[in-house]
Amino acid sequence: MFAAAEAVRIRPHDLLKCLNSLLGQTNCARCNSELPPAVQMVLATRCRPSPTLSWEISENMTKITFIQPDGAAQTVDAENGLTVMEAAKLNDIAGIEAECGGACACATCHVYVDEAFRAATGKPAAMEEDMLDFAFDVRDGSRLCCQIKITSAIDGLVVRVPAKQF
Ligand code: FES
Repeated sequence: MFAAAEAVRIRPHDLLKCLNSLLGQTNCARCNSELPPAVQMVLATRCRPSPTLSWEISENMTKITFIQPDGAAQTVDAENGLTVMEAAKLNDIAGIEAECGGACACATCHVYVDEAFRAATGKPAAMEEDMLDFAFDVRDGSRLCCQIKITSAIDGLVVRVPAKQF
């Protein structure tokens, strides 16, 4: 499928429409445009339907970079609707303990939000502020990342992991 897509030089958006077509729909679910003729030809001659593909996957992902105290950075693609803590746990980010599982009751998911993203991520709610009192080395930009919802508005988010959680 990807080799075939490369051969006809389709754009990423057309590839999404191609994936959509594999799910049995002939038009893009977002813009309702038809697949380009070259892609239709590839589908007709080379591709088979796969129930496991979904065009939504790559359209609903947001990039988040976690920076460790030693400067090591790891960028992950996280699904919108999750929290930053859930994205960290799903990607085995070191230093994010999240002992309470996201109930805002442990402060072991403490991170420092990069200054450029503080407006987009918002201020902590009162309950989060209270719990931050139990976190290690609280500074400007300190947040409990279980309280930060992932949306496209924070694409490229950079957070730093503290030296320890408590
Ligand atoms: S996971 Fe416990 S406060 Fe965030």
